[in-house]
Amino acid sequence: MKHLLKLLDLTEEEIIDLLNLADQLKYERKHNIPHPRLAGKTLGMIFQKASTRTRVSFETGMVQLGGYPLFLSSHDLQIGRGEPVQDTARVLSRYLDGIMIRTFAQKEVEDLANYGTVPIINGLTDFCHPCQVLADLMTIREYKGSFNGLKMCYIGDGNNMANSLIVGGLKVGMKVSVACPKDYQPDAQVLDFANKNGGFTITDSPVEAAVDADVIFTDVWASMGQEGEAEKRRIAFNGYQVNDDVLGAAHAECMVQHCLPAHRGEEITEKVFEAHANEIFDEAENRLHAQKAVLVKVMGSQN
Ligand code: CP
Ligand code: NVA
Repeated sequence: MKHLLKLLDLTEEEIIDLLNLADQLKYERKHNIPHPRLAGKTLGMIFQKASTRTRVSFETGMVQLGGYPLFLSSHDLQIGRGEPVQDTARVLSRYLDGIMIRTFAQKEVEDLANYGTVPIINGLTDFCHPCQVLADLMTIREYKGSFNGLKMCYIGDGNNMANSLIVGGLKVGMKVSVACPKDYQPDAQVLDFANKNGGFTITDSPVEAAVDADVIFTDVWASMGQEGEAEKRRIAFNGYQVNDDVLGAAHAECMVQHCLPAHRGEEITEKVFEAHANEIFDEAENRLHAQKAVLVKVMGSQN
C-alpha cells in the first residue's frame, strides 16, 4: 500500500490487514510494549480545516511509533497564499517520509500523491474520510466479533462520512442502508460502486433504513466549509435524527457510532448519544490505533 487516498482504492484484504495491525498496535500500547516501527521517520501534517481527533491522534501516534510529527497549518504555509499543491508536494517530499493532509478538494490529495514521492494519507476531504472509517470498522469488529451478517445504517447528509462508510462497509461484507434527503445524496462515484453491490439500499426514510440495523451512524448536517448553509440545512435535515424511534426499528443490541464532533438535538438526541457514549468514545480512541496501522503500512519497511 503506497498511499491512503480513499477506501475505493483498497481491496477487502488490505482493509482487513490494516484492522488486524490496528488491533495488534492497540494490544501493544495497552500492555506498554514499545513499538517504534517508524523510528527516525518524519510525518508532515497539513491542515486546511480544523481538527481535534485527527491532529492529536496522528501526532501522538507518530511519537508512539518512534517518529516525529510536524503540524503544518495552511494559515502558516505558502499553500495558504496560493503556492500550487504540485510544488508543495515536490518540496515536502525532499524533507519528509510521509504527508497527512486534511483539505477540501479530493483532487488536491490526489495531486499531492501524483507529484510527490512520499506516501500521502487523506485526513479528510469533502469527498471522504477514510481514516475515520477504518477506526469505525475496527470498533464494529471489536464489539461484534466479525462483520458477518451485519447491517450498517447511515442516516443524514450524503457527505464525506457517508461516502466512506458506504464503501468501507460494503468492502468488508456488511449490508449497508442509507437514509438521506433527496437533495443531499452520497457522491455519484460511490453510488455507482454501491449499486453494483447487492447489499446496498438507499431511501429517504430514516426508520426504514434502520430496520434490523446492527450499527447506526450519523454525522453533522453542516460539514466544515458549509457553515454558511447551516440554517438551510437545519430545515432540509429536519427528521434525519438518530433518536428512539430510529433505534426502535433496529436490532436490540444495535450500536451507535458518531465520528464527532456531534450536535446533540440535531443529528442525534442527547439521550441516544449518552446511552451509546462508550461505543462512541471507543470509536474515537480507535482513530489512534487505526491510523498507526496506516502509518506503519505506508511508511514502514513492510509496505
Ligand atoms: N472525527 C474527526 O475527524 O474529528 P476531528 O475533526 O476533530 O479531527
Ligand atoms: N462531515 C464532517 C466530518 C467531521 C469529522 C465534516 O466534514 O466536517
